Amino acid sequence: RTGCTTIPVVVHVVHHSDAEDISEEQIASQIETLNADFRNLNADGGTVPEPFALLRADARITFELAGTDPDGAATSGITRTRTSVNGFGADDAVKSSATGGADPWPSGQYLNLWVCRLAGGLLGYAQFPGGPDETDGVVITHTACGSTGTASAPFDLGRTATHEVGHWLNLRHIWGDDGSGCHGSDFVEDTPNQGGPNAGKPSFPTLSCDNAPDGDLFMNYMDYVDDDTMTMFTHGQVTRMQTALAGVRSSIGT
Ligand code: ARG
Ligand code: ZN
Ligand code: CA
Repeated sequence: RTGCTTIPVVVHVVHHSDAEDISEEQIASQIETLNADFRNLNADGGTVPEPFALLRADARITFELAGTDPDGAATSGITRTRTSVNGFGADDAVKSSATGGADPWPSGQYLNLWVCRLAGGLLGYAQFPGGPDETDGVVITHTACGSTGTASAPFDLGRTATHEVGHWLNLRHIWGDDGSGCHGSDFVEDTPNQGGPNAGKPSFPTLSCDNAPDGDLFMNYMDYVDDDTMTMFTHGQVTRMQTALAGVRSSIGT
């Protein structure tokens, strides 16, 4: 697509406790982070080391809370559901009212973003393009949603959703999901070959797989580093996301 695409988002807040029933402000802070990160307008983009600076790219995607619901009525773009489930897993239960969650809005028109308490330290998970409509979208734990309210360091800058929406637009992990091997690929040409995931706050350069002198692109949103350390998508990743928008996700956004 040429120019910018705006994607309507519905946030399904599924809460077992009052704390999990996060505020509108916390949700707004998450949408703001998505908009900064996907337009390459994030204030921390300047921290990308000089040898990688030219790889930084604008994904030309913006997000807004849906203003119209599936019946055509005005909406805040937020649904709220009390649940008896005290902590969800990665099994998609949060995506169905039959299993204590909230049903999705039509996935051809909306990005469904569920916010709940995920158990076991799971920050979020996403479904790649091409999967079942009933489970399409992304899930994030409330303590990693946005940058205020219950958001908790070191995952308190809204980057879990940036990472998960990257998956939803067909991005793979930057290390190629091959354990720590050097043969896996993210199918993106301008990302260096990388062994395994990085965590925390690595320093530049971090080397693996004979990728000296510049090493891993650990400051990429599709690595596993802390929120304050992930700051960029590459041009190749943008091409892959835009290919998804032109193809398997062509019905979404304007
Ligand atoms: N573990 C999650 C996944 O693989 C997300 C990791 C997000 N990282 C972060 N710094 N917020 O999809
Ligand atoms: Zn991931
Ligand atoms: Ca690898």
